[in-house]
Amino acid sequence: MASLTVRQLDEALKQQLRLRAARNGRSVEDEVRSILREAAGETEAPAQPAAPAASAAATSQARVLLIIGGGIAAYKSLDLIRRLKERGYAVRCILTQAAAEFVTPLAAGALAGGRVYTDLFNPDHEFDVGHIRLARETDLVVVAPATADLMAKMAQGLVGDLATAVLLATRAKILLAPAMNPAMWSHKATQRNLSQLKADGVALIGPNAGEMAERGEHGKGRMAEPLEIAGAVDRLLKAETTLQPLKGKRILITAGPTHEPIDPVRYIANRSSGKQGYAIAAAAAEAGASVTLISGPVTLRKPDGVNVIEVESARDMLGAVETALPVDIAIFAAAVADWRVANAGEQKIKKQAGAAVPQLSLTENPDILSTIAHRSKDRPPLVIGFAAETENVIANAKAKLARKGCDWILANDVSPATGIMGGDSNTIHLVTKDGVDDWPPQSKEEAAAMLIAKIAATIGKDRP
Ligand SMILES: Cc1cc2nc3c(=O)[nH]c(=O)nc-3n(C[C@H](O)[C@H](O)[C@H](O)COP(=O)(O)O)c2cc1C
Repeated sequence: MASLTVRQLDEALKQQLRLRAARNGRSVEDEVRSILREAAGETEAPAQPAAPAASAAATSQARVLLIIGGGIAAYKSLDLIRRLKERGYAVRCILTQAAAEFVTPLAAGALAGGRVYTDLFNPDHEFDVGHIRLARETDLVVVAPATADLMAKMAQGLVGDLATAVLLATRAKILLAPAMNPAMWSHKATQRNLSQLKADGVALIGPNAGEMAERGEHGKGRMAEPLEIAGAVDRLLKAETTLQPLKGKRILITAGPTHEPIDPVRYIANRSSGKQGYAIAAAAAEAGASVTLISGPVTLRKPDGVNVIEVESARDMLGAVETALPVDIAIFAAAVADWRVANAGEQKIKKQAGAAVPQLSLTENPDILSTIAHRSKDRPPLVIGFAAETENVIANAKAKLARKGCDWILANDVSPATGIMGGDSNTIHLVTKDGVDDWPPQSKEEAAAMLIAKIAATIGKDRP
């Protein structure tokens, strides 16, 4: 049988082979074997890290997704890959189109030991929504260098390429290592974007001050050194696993009152401030959960790192809750109006001299807690309701637990003397099928932390 070695191939073909092998995370020899098998009609052996699902996801290694932006400092990111690998992280790389002008996918892939992702519209891996899988199958996303352009796009939520699509789709913590000319860094637009990104919960390392690549340029804008970035990765991942017991869990929380319209300018409301629900959302986000907060009209600051959806009426709230499913845990802290006006006016109801006072007829609103707790499809594994009672608190809460079909009820006495409704503190009784646990009087933040700790202890720290 005639023999042929890769070395005997012409240079252009060898280069094509090398690129294809790097993309598929195979050695050149394995790539050739795979091509020959394909040609012979055999089923192709799965490439090692060819699809995002393979490789590190199946191991206990912490996973870092490194997005390399198009800046001069991109060359340092090749060293960063080595530093991260040395520490035992499984590293995947995305190169922006501009980054590929500074470093090659081949070099990044060779160092990372797997294929490098560059293209949002790559049919090879987008058939299974590869960008969403890349976004999910990581414990941390590092953007280094984070260009002025990438920071601006992130702050705006723009999704024009693979890197930005992953950055918007990920639930993992994001670490930025900005690198740019000092004038670009200090520009108001960049600083505005930076403030937004910090408010969104993005972590930052650098930039450092010093000599820039451009001749004669000096100032703040140098990318942090690879060892510094690797140190920040260590700290963040350690914090993620030890301090974030709900990492990877999706939590849905409702909060605040609902407004039920009488006409376009008037409504029926209640005294709920939303403080307890907002405090729970903040505590859940701090515990690493991916939090969707569906909020009735309140005047509170949105908690950092929480996806807030604003609604007005009970029906809007139910719609938003159903859209947010599936989740792992649902906590219904909103004071949803039981009734709405059946004959709400399309136009403002006018006061007319001598005319009869308008009569409001009420009709029942959907019961959000009961609807979700009784779902056969996508019922969250843990459904928690609140019972705001003014008498027979525990007895009513026990009856509510059974009637609504939820797993836990957090009961509180909201009679005016307690000051709980709209106030800053709460006294909760946790009612479950196993009994009643009376929590001490405490601030709403402390009650939220206690609830999140209880949830973490109940559902465990397993990754999804
Ligand atoms: C030689 C050269 C060096 C550059 N260096 C940087 C840089 O250090 N930081 C930066 O924010 N942009 C830099 N740019 C501009 C970016 O490459 C440009 O904004 C690009 O669109 C960024 O794309 P990306 O954010 O998708 O990677 C540089 C451009 C050139 C031509």
